[in-house]
Amino acid sequence: MVIELVAVIAKNLYKKYGNKLILNDINLEIVDGDIFGLLGPNGSGKSTLMKIFAGTLKYDYGQVTVESYDPNRNPIEIRKIVGYVPETPVLYESLTPREYFEFIGSMRGLDISPNLLEKRIDELAYALGISEYMDNFIGSLSFGTKQKVSIISSLLHNPKILILDESINGLDPKSAKIFKSLLMDLSKEGKIIIFSTHILEIAQNICKKVAIMDKGSVKYTGKIDEISSQDKNLEEVFLKLTSSEDIDQIVKALKESITS
Ligand SMILES: Nc1ncnc2c1ncn2[C@@H]1O[C@H](COP(=O)(O)OP(=O)(O)OP(=O)(O)O)[C@@H](O)[C@H]1O
Ligand SMILES: [Mg+2]
Repeated sequence: MVIELVAVIAKNLYKKYGNKLILNDINLEIVDGDIFGLLGPNGSGKSTLMKIFAGTLKYDYGQVTVESYDPNRNPIEIRKIVGYVPETPVLYESLTPREYFEFIGSMRGLDISPNLLEKRIDELAYALGISEYMDNFIGSLSFGTKQKVSIISSLLHNPKILILDESINGLDPKSAKIFKSLLMDLSKEGKIIIFSTHILEIAQNICKKVAIMDKGSVKYTGKIDEISSQDKNLEEVFLKLTSSEDIDQIVKALKESITS
């Protein structure tokens, strides 16, 4: 029996925009069954790294392997095995969700019958509570509902790897809970889930492993269990590693400046 291993690996990865170094020697190994949280302050490089894994942005130096493909060389293959929800989803506002899903389904050349695709679309729409909006224009939907449309479209081809850039943020509590359970089920099936969030509680609840990034570098990577077994919580570790320990001083100075 051939055991199919799925992994997302970055080795000595560098990315620049102009002269500015955005990702600086990233080394990560994410394997099947992982729910992997990417954490880090604004601008630390999370979205840039996720775009590279999803094959929508080229890296400059190093080695990246997504399953068996290099995203710089095989972006088309990567799109078949990856479901990617970008930070700011690009959706066709003048289509309805149903038309959009059918369009995405046909673009990806899914080898499932139209009936099965319809069934998958309807089940996902029901689970995330957007059935009633399926025939409205996407342009008329709320922020969170658009987010759900983007999430559903990333799942239609049953990808082995899911890359979710702050995708839980806009969801209401019920949908967020359903989506979190779905992610856990998918990871048990052996899929890889990589997601970024600023909500440390979410990371603590559902991630098996996290990487904490700061200024383009990975400052910490490890299992969530290891953090809690060291008698620390994720917030403490995060603030320490991302040079955010002067918060009290910053708040004091801010208050003084506002009230003076
Ligand atoms: N298209 C671009 N051109 C130039 N610089 C960019 C571009 N996109 C991102 N950057 C820079 O790259 C750095 C990392 O940005 P990135 O979006 O990856 O951060 P992030 O960790 O996702 O932040 P956030 O938490 O705010 O989403 C930032 O300094 C940003 O200004
Ligand atoms: Mg980002």
